[in-house]
Amino acid sequence: MKIKRPRGTRDFSPEEMRKRNFVKNRIEEIYKKFNYSEITIPTYEHLELFNLKSGDDIRDAMYVFRDKKGRELCLRPEATASVCRFFANELRNVQKPLKFYYYCPMFRYERPQKGRYREFFQSGIELIGPKNPGSDAEAITVAYRALKNLNLNFELEIGHLGILRGLLNDLGIAEEKQDELINAVDKKDIKVLENIVEHQIIFNILELKGDSKIIKKAENLLKDYPAAVLALCELKEILLLLDILGVGYVIDLGVARGLEYYTGMVFEIRVPELGAQCQIAGGGRYDKLIELFNGPKTPAVGFAYGFDRVIDAYELQGLEIPGTEVDFVITAVDYSVQKNALKIASKLRENFVVDFDLMNRKLGKVLDYADGLNAKFVIIVGPREFKENKVSVRNMKTKERKIVGIDELGNLI
Ligand code: HAM
Repeated sequence: MKIKRPRGTRDFSPEEMRKRNFVKNRIEEIYKKFNYSEITIPTYEHLELFNLKSGDDIRDAMYVFRDKKGRELCLRPEATASVCRFFANELRNVQKPLKFYYYCPMFRYERPQKGRYREFFQSGIELIGPKNPGSDAEAITVAYRALKNLNLNFELEIGHLGILRGLLNDLGIAEEKQDELINAVDKKDIKVLENIVEHQIIFNILELKGDSKIIKKAENLLKDYPAAVLALCELKEILLLLDILGVGYVIDLGVARGLEYYTGMVFEIRVPELGAQCQIAGGGRYDKLIELFNGPKTPAVGFAYGFDRVIDAYELQGLEIPGTEVDFVITAVDYSVQKNALKIASKLRENFVVDFDLMNRKLGKVLDYADGLNAKFVIIVGPREFKENKVSVRNMKTKERKIVGIDELGNLI
């Protein structure tokens, strides 16, 4: 019986895993340089955790099921709510700031297409405790530096939901309508926006995208809306710090984010090759989520890469992954030296990557195999040479073959 993979899931071959691990390590190298530590969260949670503040799109896409006791559970669609639950229940008394990173699969029942899967991976950070422009700037800088560590070419767009919320509050628009509006902004759904937005100033603000000149424009437009001006000042401070930290960005006051928990600075990252609709990362400040889970009032900020999209971007930009590192392939000429060959392999493995010929193939086939592995040397253990404590070695690059003392093998690399 042939059984297919569920739609929207993938298998990863060793080559793909090599690429993925290389990219993952490059990203985590930067997390660690900023002193973030890895955590892991459960694959499934109680449904309420995500029902509270995820936003309609994610709520509609959740994998919900009941366990044998009838409890309603859900495969995690994202990590931030879980990290807040973890903090609220178990880590509230730990010294702040808490600086976490994670890498794990997420599950959303969406229509699968290139860059959009039902099981996909996120790599991200959460910074819990501080509420100041410095911590916003740090979260953005980590996102920026990790992609630079991959030599990726990308665009970082930064906005601030406090500006829009402040303006909407000052205009007397109810919170429910604000959520609807922000959702439409996130989807760039102009029709819905035109239906719900009565004030031209909202469009004028949402359109602002560019360099620092747009801050001046926003200041002029917002001068009669004090709550919005306050948020704009905060954004200005974050941008100033990013300038000092050497982070390149575009200001975009139309960045809204689909998740409902954001309260301040928000940002998204895109690469030209994947198109304007496809973000490779998103994040921002969420100061009220922890208290929603009965935790103490604790501000926080973070982001997550769509890891699969980072991989796609990496490939589309033609960036290189180092090849495999097999130092030696070892084969025994006949059964009489098989155990001796094993011993040599075992010793060399203390310092090198060694593949032992387990198929007992003829030498020609072993050489083909070593070629396929991109191995550096093939060691051929034969009874005659072994008596003199020597083996025959083929350099796979130069194709030269010579006799080498067993104790000298390590010097070849
Ligand atoms: P999000 O924007 O929902 O934010 O997801 C983050 C990233 O995951 C997106 O930018 C996208 O690259 C990727 N992604 C989302 N859905 C899919 C999918 N179906 N297939 C492939 N990739 C996908 C969050 O999840 C927040 N928790 C981020 C955050 C952390 N905010 C603060 N801290």
